[in-house]
Amino acid sequence: MKAIEIHGSTGDSTILVGESIRSLKKYAPLERMVVITDENVRRHYQKDFPSCEVIEIGSGEKVKTLESVKEIYQRLIEIEADRSSFIVGIGGGVVCDITGFVASTYMRGVAFGFVSTTLLSQVDASVGGKNGVNLGGYKNMVGVFNQPQFVICDINLLKTLPEKELLSGFAEIVKHAVIGDPHLFSYIQENYKKGFLLDTGVIKKLVSDSIVIKSSIVNRDEKEKGERRKLNFGHTFGHAIEKTTGISHGEAVSAGMVIASRLSRQMGYLSMEETEKIEILLKKLRLPARLQIDHGRVIDALGKDKKRNRVSINFVLLKAIGHAFVKEISINELGEAIRDF
Ligand SMILES: NC(=O)c1ccc[n+]([C@@H]2O[C@H](COP(=O)([O-])OP(=O)(O)OC[C@H]3O[C@@H](n4cnc5c(N)ncnc54)[C@H](O)[C@@H]3O)[C@@H](O)[C@H]2O)c1
Ligand SMILES: [Zn+2]
Repeated sequence: MKAIEIHGSTGDSTILVGESIRSLKKYAPLERMVVITDENVRRHYQKDFPSCEVIEIGSGEKVKTLESVKEIYQRLIEIEADRSSFIVGIGGGVVCDITGFVASTYMRGVAFGFVSTTLLSQVDASVGGKNGVNLGGYKNMVGVFNQPQFVICDINLLKTLPEKELLSGFAEIVKHAVIGDPHLFSYIQENYKKGFLLDTGVIKKLVSDSIVIKSSIVNRDEKEKGERRKLNFGHTFGHAIEKTTGISHGEAVSAGMVIASRLSRQMGYLSMEETEKIEILLKKLRLPARLQIDHGRVIDALGKDKKRNRVSINFVLLKAIGHAFVKEISINELGEAIRDF
């Protein structure tokens, strides 16, 4: 097992890679524990849950709403949860984002932790202390920064994950390698086949190296004033593509990373060789490098950020694999750039 520390303004968080869901009672008081989970995770893993109150939500992005939050608050009142309770979210990014928000606001905040059950949430969503829900069609519109006391990343839970979800996790792992660690990039190139087969050693390394990259950025810039923006690599176009095509987050981010790499190439920052390396690796990971997109709609979506219209974006570019930087680019310039792809 490997433990990685995050030092947030609200407290410290320990991320435990390779720990088991069955050890949950070592990290939180069983007699005061309340579990929040989703229907799929409960179906697969209730046998491993501690014997305590369980609150179940549906599943998927559609349940990441204030309505779900309200239902959970009401249930917490019914079971007489109070400030001495300990709330544990067992699930993917949706469950963790909702749980962190509920726990941070119920009775002005109770202690919480996560058992992260998807590859995406292990490497990304449950790391960094952002918790929240969507509102009126806008993602993560309402939320808080607050660190969970612990995150258990149990690699064994990934065995039941649908392939599409696994690929989304791989896209974020590539993102972390590309922005911060050329050695991890080479490791993925050499070991991705074992990764697909969920080889324990390979997955543990991919998950923990990924978390080290994200957590060290978060430790330097928890509130996203500067460096944390690098974690949006591939996501500016990714989100716009996801919104306009309806493809999965991981696929859209993959295409977004290819666009951002090519733009870095076009602007003279990244070598042709490394631009191609990124594209080749994503293809090997069965992620798309190119997509048919409606340029007009994508540019339109790009200009809208949480209801505001914007004229320029803090865009993440690459100088090399492992070296990202942020540059303000106008929407017009980005529009021109993707027309050429
Ligand atoms: N807070 C952050 O910093 C942050 C970062 C990245 C993403 N996110 C959020 O994370 C969410 C996406 O997370 P996700 O990809 O984990 O999606 P998810 O939580 O919806 O899980 C994906 C699907 O897999 C199922 N599932 C979960 N664990 C399983 C398991 N072990 N076996 C079988 N099925 C399982 C779920 O029920 C769901 O159907 C988005 O809402 C996104 O905004 C947050
Ligand atoms: Zn993402």
